[in-house]
Amino acid sequence: MTSSRAEIKAGGLRLLIDGEVATVTLARPERRNAMTPALWHGLADIGATLPAQVRVVVLRGEGPSFCAGIDLNLLTGAAMADDGEIARPDDPDFDQKVASYQAGYLWLRDPSIVSIAAVQGHAIGAGFQLALACDLRILADDARLCMKEPALGLVPDLTGTKPLVDIVGLPRAIELCLTARTVTAAEAMLLRLAELVVPAAELDAAVADLVAALLATDAAAARATKALLQLAPAHSLAEQAAAERRAQAELLRSRLSLRP
Ligand code: ACO
Repeated sequence: MTSSRAEIKAGGLRLLIDGEVATVTLARPERRNAMTPALWHGLADIGATLPAQVRVVVLRGEGPSFCAGIDLNLLTGAAMADDGEIARPDDPDFDQKVASYQAGYLWLRDPSIVSIAAVQGHAIGAGFQLALACDLRILADDARLCMKEPALGLVPDLTGTKPLVDIVGLPRAIELCLTARTVTAAEAMLLRLAELVVPAAELDAAVADLVAALLATDAAAARATKALLQLAPAHSLAEQAAAERRAQAELLRSRLSLRP
């Protein structure tokens, strides 16, 4: 098993890999972890190069806010060169550019890992979508979630609309996005946007407890079960029952083939 290894990544990101757990930290607290194309590409790079032994990925933000969303300097043209290039409407490769930003979010659903967002303070716009990209969310009691994009003349386009609708339902998703209002941690719990809400001082300990519980199950069974659960929403009961049989057979046969 790989021992603990810390790295600074592009765009204000820190990555710590400790055996089966990777911790990704948004590390621009002086900007409330505002996000840039360089940061989205850095996230995508972490996803693409994650060591195979990693089973749990924790996403956290340094400082008082989890993430204040897109760096507003990108929208005013005041961004720095090393922030990376934001897609412009007249870019012929607009679609590919936004897809490259979305790649920073999509890998968090991979069945080989369980991703956990540890959210304190604000998670706004692109930052709220990052929390939504994770499988599980633990919120500090000071957490504030807001899908701010429509208020700024944008749609949420960093993979957040599907999990939002899946979790809160279409009417509530419409209400939250089209009012761009702020959801408190207590309301987030009621809306199932949080698996757990804890006092801010206990956030790290709560995340550590969850990580330990996730690592206590069998790795292959956990990966196969997440993949199976992800199929359920699009399946009929009969299709899902068949998928369960296939997954069980594949899992048990993979163990047989490993026997000496
Ligand atoms: N982009 C760039 N800089 C930011 C951002 C941002 N999104 N958010 C905060 N900062 C900067 C501030 O300008 C400030 O810089 P300064 O110290 O040089 O003045 C510093 O971070 C601290 O911000 P404060 O506002 O002083 O911190 P506070 O804790 O009082 O408030 C909050 C935090 C609520 C997050 C506030 O900064 C805010 O509303 N930020 C903008 C949020 C936003 O609209 N994001 C875009 C969403 S849409 C999308 O993501 C696509």
